[in-house]
Amino acid sequence: MFQKDLLQNKRILITGGGTGLGKASAQRFLELGAEVYICGRRQEVLAATERELRARTGAKIHSLPCDVRDAAAVEKMIENIWVEGQLHVLMNNAAGNFLARTEDLSLGAFQSVIGIVLMGTLHTTLSCGRRWLAAKQSGVVLNITTTYTTTGSAYVVPSAAAKAGVQALTRSLAVEWGNRGIRMNAIAPGPIPTEGAFSRLLPRPDLEVEAKKRNPLGRFGTTEEFANLAAFLVSDGSGYINGEVVTMDGGEWLQGAGEFTALGRELTEKEWAMMKPKPKA
Ligand code: HXC
Ligand code: NAP
Repeated sequence: MFQKDLLQNKRILITGGGTGLGKASAQRFLELGAEVYICGRRQEVLAATERELRARTGAKIHSLPCDVRDAAAVEKMIENIWVEGQLHVLMNNAAGNFLARTEDLSLGAFQSVIGIVLMGTLHTTLSCGRRWLAAKQSGVVLNITTTYTTTGSAYVVPSAAAKAGVQALTRSLAVEWGNRGIRMNAIAPGPIPTEGAFSRLLPRPDLEVEAKKRNPLGRFGTTEEFANLAAFLVSDGSGYINGEVVTMDGGEWLQGAGEFTALGRELTEKEWAMMKPKPKA
């Protein structure tokens, strides 16, 4: 799909790059010539991914344990990376989420998810952004949100609120920093099977069948499809795309939003025939 050297000489940090969509993106970026840094909280998970992707691609990958909720730890990580050379791309992918009734949630539960998703994104973006601005260097930020940022969603309220904040941050800074060479976009994915997301959000296998029925394409997305879109958006070829949130969900949210979609699927052939215009006398 891409030229082999699409991301040659790009240095990219992916938060939450040890698993799931972050790991798939790391592999794609490495295959396309980038040097990749991944961070997360679990050192053993990061180290295993680093080993696996280095063996698979033969490219330069580094892993750095870091909790993005901790602003000082983020600043230290970014400083350590910059000592070796500037980053060109930041991908804010780390997230926390779980399915819960909102009235049952503790303040700590809200703080945990908002801390990872919104504050974590802010910490890394400010650390990189200030360096790019001070050195008059260009930079690219890609934030990972969800399809429920605009509509909200019951039972994932901390995530919905935090991801909506990330989307507002994306559009705000795309304008504020755009004239100084910093481009900022987001991907809003629909369901893509990963251990992290599905273990927390789809607790029973039969719910997966129902979830697929809610999608016009009748299937979930793949990590490869996600990684291809991420590679496209961070590459110089998409240099005029700024402040955009690209939905990648097979049309799922539009299907849910359409007034007559569900009704139309319930109608029988006989009922469809009844809806046709009567022959003129
Ligand atoms: C209610 C919960 C909870 C749950 C934790 N808490 N899990 N409350 N229901 N299922 C509460 C705890 O009681 C605690 O509150 C607070 O949240 C922090 O919990 P900890 O376990 O101490 O936190 P921590 O170890 O930091 O774990 C963070 C986490 C966890 C967010 C809770 O799930 C995590 O590590 N997630 C990372 C990966 C992830 O979530 N991936 C999915 C991304 S998918 P108190 O008050 O006791 O301190 C996604 C979009 C999917 O984002 C969209 C699909 C379409
Ligand atoms: P995942 O595998 O659980 O990825 C989340 C990653 O974030 C993990 O590697 C985790 O590693 C890291 N992380 C969590 N808290 C962190 C913290 N405080 N500091 C640093 N790293 C932290 O889930 P995923 O499905 O790949 O999700 C990736 C992104 O896609 C997320 O932004 C998610 O919201 C978004 N998304 C996913 C889907 C989907 O269906 N998969 C749909 C919509 C949006 P540690 O636990 O080791 O820290």
